[in-house]
Amino acid sequence: MDLVVNGVGHRLDLDPRTTLLDALREHLQLTGAKKGCDHGQCGACTVLLDGRRVNSCLILAISQQDAEVTTVEGLGTGDNLHPVQQGFLDRDGFQCGYCTPGQICSAVGMLDEVAQGRPSAVTDGEITLDDAEIRERMSGNLCRCGAYANIVPAIAQAAGR
Ligand code: FES
Ligand code: FES
Repeated sequence: MDLVVNGVGHRLDLDPRTTLLDALREHLQLTGAKKGCDHGQCGACTVLLDGRRVNSCLILAISQQDAEVTTVEGLGTGDNLHPVQQGFLDRDGFQCGYCTPGQICSAVGMLDEVAQGRPSAVTDGEITLDDAEIRERMSGNLCRCGAYANIVPAIAQAAGR
């Protein structure tokens, strides 16, 4: 099958049961996306599919023949970080860092959802990207280190708040 990841096309010979997460990590050596629970519960494996955030542990690679996959490696470079990556760095939004790639990809997808005017469960009328909105929209991403407190300011900084 053909998989486009971070703008680069790859031809892969995969067992049809291979998840997108395993294709990225085991076959393309893109180890940014992490395997936390492998059950869709923690968000550590979050990547962007055509710009929308997904849990890559729940998706079969073979179903993504024509999709654009973006991982944390594709968001920025060492000298030119994505604003969300910069926010996590400036606001100390991580401790061990295991959840961080998923948090960052999820935040990028979430800010795009906000820009498109898509409401969340706590939106009341106009979307105001306050802490409650950020917390609700990031609730699918769990951090076990206790860095929760700094993740919200990191995303708020990236949003220009
Ligand atoms: S590893 Fe995919 S949601 Fe936990
Ligand atoms: S920084 Fe360690 S799990 Fe989030």
